[in-house]
Amino acid sequence: MRFHRKIFLTVALTIVGISIVFITLTHFIVKSSIEAGIHEARKKEVAFLSSELSDYYLVHNQSWEEIDQIDLLQDVDRESPSLLVLDNDKREIFNQGDAPLKLITRLGVRNDIVINEKKVGQFIYYDPEVANSNKIMIGIPVSVVLALIGSGSLLIIIALFIAYQLSRWLASPLKVLLPSIERLGKGELGVQADVNMNDEYGKIANAFNRMSTELKQAEDVRRNLTADIAHELRTPLTIVGGKLDYLQQQGQPIQPETLLPIQDELIRLNRLVEDLRTLSLAEAGKLTLNKKATNLADLVQRIRLAIEPLADEKDISIQCEVHAGQTTLSVDPSRIKQVLFNLLTNAIRYTPSQGTVQIRLLNDSQHSLKIVVQDSGIGIAPEHIPHLFDRFYRADEARTRDGGGTGLGLAIAKQFVLSHQGTIEVESSLDQGTRFIIQLPY
Ligand SMILES: Nc1ncnc2c1ncn2[C@@H]1O[C@H](COP(=O)(O)OP(=O)(O)OP(=O)(O)O)[C@@H](O)[C@H]1O
Ligand SMILES: [Mg+2]
Repeated sequence: MRFHRKIFLTVALTIVGISIVFITLTHFIVKSSIEAGIHEARKKEVAFLSSELSDYYLVHNQSWEEIDQIDLLQDVDRESPSLLVLDNDKREIFNQGDAPLKLITRLGVRNDIVINEKKVGQFIYYDPEVANSNKIMIGIPVSVVLALIGSGSLLIIIALFIAYQLSRWLASPLKVLLPSIERLGKGELGVQADVNMNDEYGKIANAFNRMSTELKQAEDVRRNLTADIAHELRTPLTIVGGKLDYLQQQGQPIQPETLLPIQDELIRLNRLVEDLRTLSLAEAGKLTLNKKATNLADLVQRIRLAIEPLADEKDISIQCEVHAGQTTLSVDPSRIKQVLFNLLTNAIRYTPSQGTVQIRLLNDSQHSLKIVVQDSGIGIAPEHIPHLFDRFYRADEARTRDGGGTGLGLAIAKQFVLSHQGTIEVESSLDQGTRFIIQLPY
């Protein structure tokens, strides 16, 4: 069932239900107060007859036998009164007076005969005066109910009209949103719903639009990623293929050194595949970390020793500074080593000869250790900064490809830091140098 029909039906049923309850209650209240009024008017007669009949029943061994022998109405001071006595099964026991039975039962005053809280019968008292007022009184609840039904129906029609409009109005933003949801479901990623509202519907539409945009971006990233991987694989494969073709055409025994370039490309390929595997594991949160208490100051010294030959080739000096008391953290040393290694190879790669690279350990806050890797290199233009940690992103395509980078180093570094609940940021200015700042929680 459509949403607005549901709202309409619910509201309609509620209105009709409330009206019926209201009319029934009013009828009941008016009727019982009128009955009480009539009883009150013949209070004396009813009390007298009630006590006489109860006495008779008791004196005659709890039976109504021979009751027609007595004249109860002679002491009633009204014009032409009548009396009808019934037993517990509503059978007629005694009828005195001239009024027809039908009139007595319809317009008389009823009262139960009760002895010791037990009902033993019922009597109906009648006289023309009480019949008249009863006739008038019976009319009142009927006219009240008729008036209520009339005005109630009018109100119900008005209320139903309002409910119908309200339900349509409530459902209308959904009608705008629904086609967009269906289009997204059919694969049209990025589709936007045109709902300009500030209420909850507006929030739903905004959330939908955001989700659709994000899905599109994720899809674009996925497509680009496949293209990037294919692109990265093609270069080494072409080189290996070309070299092998050339060697075959020569038809001469192969010298071991001619195989070296092929081996280089295979090493590159291997590294690429391995990097992609670790990256996808880290992104899926499935990276296993072998955490243990590690002194970061020692770790930094070891990496420095390992990387120094690379720096020496370009006459770059590496400086280490420790300004932190507490440098021992529970981390996976091999992953953190990889992070620092990636940052340092970048720093050396993108710093011209005779430059400097600095590694500093600081503890600005009680909760985390700060590791700063800073170089005096070429820097990074501001437009590249937001994408720097993306897979396969290179700030300068032509230059870095020569240097052998695939653009995965920073993406891996970021994932490793994130899996240690840390953060990594970059600050850079062109031709001044670049600074990477890592924070690792203690
Ligand atoms: N210290 C730096 N100075 C200048 N540019 C940098 C620096 N570090 C990274 N970059 C830029 O960011 C890009 C991405 O770096 P990343 O380490 O992810 O890839 P890569 O070094 O090109 O390749 P890989 O690390 O996979 O061998 C680099 O290509 C480079 O343009
Ligand atoms: Mg790198």
